[in-house]
Amino acid sequence: MGIIAVISNKGGVGKTSIALSTGFYLSKNPSSPTLIMELDSSPGDFGPIFDIDGSRSLEFAIRFPLNFRNYLKKIEDNLYVLKGIPNPFVIESITVKELSNLLGEISSVYENIVIDTQTVINRIIIDVCMLAERIMLITDCCLESVSRVVNLYEMLTDKYSVDKKKINFIVNKKRLADLFKLWDFSRITEIPVDGFISFDKSFNKNIFMADRRKLYCSRLYKQIGRLIENDCRK
Ligand SMILES: Nc1ncnc2c1ncn2[C@@H]1O[C@H](COP(=O)(O)OP(=O)(O)OP(=O)(O)O)[C@@H](O)[C@H]1O
Ligand SMILES: [Mg+2]
Repeated sequence: MGIIAVISNKGGVGKTSIALSTGFYLSKNPSSPTLIMELDSSPGDFGPIFDIDGSRSLEFAIRFPLNFRNYLKKIEDNLYVLKGIPNPFVIESITVKELSNLLGEISSVYENIVIDTQTVINRIIIDVCMLAERIMLITDCCLESVSRVVNLYEMLTDKYSVDKKKINFIVNKKRLADLFKLWDFSRITEIPVDGFISFDKSFNKNIFMADRRKLYCSRLYKQIGRLIENDCRK
């Protein structure tokens, strides 16, 4: 699938959970080596979730793109992760040329690069959106979140000419009682919703490392799988 950016300008909507589930799902195809990359300086979750220290991060991979493999952590046979840079000033200093160099090197080895991003949209996230083949734009069921994310969609497509066809609008944490709110969504936005992910009270991010069996049985993982399969069929 190439580069997939998971974005939202609302915090806590599930960007990291969805990026990780997407990476784990895609890596199940033996012919699709997958890398999940963290672009979150707030300060990001990959360090604690995958037990990665500061000596292996995007900072070094950007500096030494030909040796990027040295800075990855192997999670499964077909799945690697690259921890982000916790310092936002360092992130801001990365140029689009450096970023595309690194992504070029990674793409020569990895079929899928899933990029988890932070809530505060900065220049490098815009660069990633322009380079990505797919963008997962995430909101939860709160109207404030939907309206913020719709503004982000409009900014990306109007100001940065990001192709609307590559954006998947995904509503996460849907509960049964949210049905009425979902009707309101269609009133405040013209953007078609590509998928809903249910609220799953037993879900938490530790299962990505601690309990893989629970991950594969979770509703979030299964629903992400269905979204990806439907998207591939389009
Ligand atoms: N479908 C879901 N059902 C239940 N809980 C969920 C679901 N998706 C995510 N969560 C939970 O919501 C919380 C926030 O998720 P996550 O960290 O993935 O969001 P985020 O958008 O990456 O947040 P941040 O803005 O801090 O980066 C976590 O506790 C996660 O376990
Ligand atoms: Mg996150």
